Amino acid sequence: MAELQSIVILTGAGISAESGVPTFRAADGLWEGHRVEDVATPEAFARDPGLVQTFYDARRAALAGVVPNAAHRALAKLDRDFAGELLIVTQNVDDLHERAGAERLLHMHGELKRALCLACGESHGWAGDLRGAPACPGCGAAKLRPDIVWFGEMPYEMERIEAALATCDLFVSIGTSGAVYPAAGFVQTARYHRASTLEMNLEPSAGTGWFDEARHGPAGVLVPAWVEEVLS
Ligand code: OAD
Repeated sequence: MAELQSIVILTGAGISAESGVPTFRAADGLWEGHRVEDVATPEAFARDPGLVQTFYDARRAALAGVVPNAAHRALAKLDRDFAGELLIVTQNVDDLHERAGAERLLHMHGELKRALCLACGESHGWAGDLRGAPACPGCGAAKLRPDIVWFGEMPYEMERIEAALATCDLFVSIGTSGAVYPAAGFVQTARYHRASTLEMNLEPSAGTGWFDEARHGPAGVLVPAWVEEVLS
């Protein structure tokens, strides 16, 4: 730990579970009552924009009722106090990392609180609803969609992520099932570049065998303990 100079942390839905945000792959295989292909693909949006907008409007509104948990707060503390390089890459579209205070953070799957204009291509901070086709604050067109990376679309900031994975000493994966690429392959990239790898998840992920070390339990317990180890 004393020699650590650069850490990349990948987080998934499991880190927000203890805040009350449902994970994606619940036992029923549905995401909040919907099949993923009915709400999280460009084809679904083309077929039924009203359903998709209403679905994400509800997710966005629900953020007002949740708060960061001990795991988000611990990573924010690490961000504040770790003197080396750090990048937190989240697959989550909630805003709980930043509300806990994390700054060295990027959202590879987009953000509920942003809207993307299909006319001018600009992304805007967005707090309200998108159903009802509000005008883009930039160009005025009624062409806004959630700024979320859907299945079949390219995640954000891949070059920056790949560069960080190529130079980190430690890659840590927290609260992700390892089912969705490219994020599921980050552990292999980090290993290829000789980083140490650590998984923290409630249960073994699909890629658990790729990690040097795996700790299984709730993120709200495991992550604060690990952050103390790194900072001590
Ligand atoms: P998943 O729902 O696939 O996986 C969540 C993981 O968190 C599971 O392995 C759970 O066991 C674990 N978990 C649940 N509660 C936990 C807790 N309290 N502490 C620690 N771990 C816990 O979510 P993701 O892996 O994030 O993509 O899903 C990846 C992507 O698939 C999402 O970003 C989303 C989704 O479809 C897009 O929307 C593009």
